Amino acid sequence: MSDSQVKFYSGVNIPLELHKTRIVQKLHLVPIERRLEALNEGGYNTFGLKTTDVYLDMLTDSGTNAMSDDQLAAMMRADDAYAGSQSFTRLQQAVEEVLGAKYFLPVHQGRAAENILACAYVRKGSLIPMNYHFTTALAHITEKGGQIVELLYPEAYKLKSSHPFKGNMNLEALEAYIQKHGKGNIPYIRMEASTNLIGGQPFSIENFRAVRAIANKHGIRLVLDASLLGENAYLIKKREDEFKNTSLTDIIKIMTGLADIIYFSARKLSSSRGGGICTNNEVIYKELEALVPLFEGFLTYGGISVREIEAMAIGLYETQDETIISQSPAFIEYFVNEAEKKGIPMLTPAGVLGGHVNAMEFCSHVPQTQYPAGALAAAFFLVSGVRGMERGSISNQRDEYGNETFADMELLRLAVPRRVFTLSQILYVIDRLSWLYDNRELIGGLKFVYEPPVLRFFMGRLVPTSDWPQKLMAKFHEDFGDSL
Ligand code: F0G
Repeated sequence: MSDSQVKFYSGVNIPLELHKTRIVQKLHLVPIERRLEALNEGGYNTFGLKTTDVYLDMLTDSGTNAMSDDQLAAMMRADDAYAGSQSFTRLQQAVEEVLGAKYFLPVHQGRAAENILACAYVRKGSLIPMNYHFTTALAHITEKGGQIVELLYPEAYKLKSSHPFKGNMNLEALEAYIQKHGKGNIPYIRMEASTNLIGGQPFSIENFRAVRAIANKHGIRLVLDASLLGENAYLIKKREDEFKNTSLTDIIKIMTGLADIIYFSARKLSSSRGGGICTNNEVIYKELEALVPLFEGFLTYGGISVREIEAMAIGLYETQDETIISQSPAFIEYFVNEAEKKGIPMLTPAGVLGGHVNAMEFCSHVPQTQYPAGALAAAFFLVSGVRGMERGSISNQRDEYGNETFADMELLRLAVPRRVFTLSQILYVIDRLSWLYDNRELIGGLKFVYEPPVLRFFMGRLVPTSDWPQKLMAKFHEDFGDSL
């Protein structure tokens, strides 16, 4: 039973919390003048903001999901040992029971797993087909001289759609790509659960089975990025007929059972910290094993504190619990549907991780060279104190010749971490977003004043192309008086 199955007598259709709040954190809704100063100090990059200036932190769900009482309790019994810790044994058991994998390598977070896979398998000239890239996965592959190719169906690039599985791999394109380039250059195929950068869109098991068949036919390894596996599994239960009566526990096992290598960011998957790589293939395990002590730490802690290892173990079991896993997607669905009713251009169907606003349409007057999604993220913070994340061209890397590569989508992502926000906070987000939409012509562009060479979206600094933030602030005062 999940919250979305609870019906109200009045007929109202709202998600219901199946948890209670027992520890709270004070938030800071500061005046708009301070928010403008904070934007200037932070280089118009929401990564540059401090949480003392942020009201709702919707930057990410990474390391910000609410932890459960059971996770916190487990942290207290952690066994501190450099080697052979009991905490690790418990985690290993959780990995085997939940993900069905016998061999497990702990790493400090998801990108560390990506580094290890790239070190082991990617060489100059390697080609890695995938449904879609994630920023850090791409950066590690290109850093080793490899190239990626994204093979989604055209439907995935449509921002308004009702397709249930926009994260599906384009099977015909995958087959043709392997035929053309030969399996020798393709060390692995990567499938990302709940494809992050196109709006948290899942793939189906039917599609994943077909990818497995192609990988088998050509003898190529299949890697599953399982960072957002729980929510992908939940949407399979909701959207793929064959699995509507299958438990999350079984759906997760079916998915992981199709991959040769599973890796994940535990910051997302298990609402803890850390990450991991797992497999049932001893040869693969041996190929990767030595890299863990080199980059991460000994095999029984992998750079993660033992307390977090305990939290990760419990968090993995909790991914089997529909009342926990349904919460974030149910809130996101509500958020996206309500925002759409107000005419705000949202990416549909609602996916996982957060609500995604189509900045290209919201700010259709801001050219892509002036980063509409970054500008929208800055403008939205200014008028609401809500911190989202730019997922557009700023998050893209330049090509090998230093040319700008424009993103397929310009999105403002407003993350809804598991069990963190209340419904009235979501209503506030929709309210301010709707005000900003009605005043959208006041939003202007951004330009870089400092651009780091790698993963520029993290530390880059930008400035507005005109005094549009001041104009937006003046209009805010006109409409809201001295309301925060
Ligand atoms: N894979 C996916 C699908 C992710 O979403 C992330 C992180 C990673 C890998 C890397 O994991 O951060 O633990 O090193 N996504 C975060 C986000 C950062 O905000 O979407 P990490």
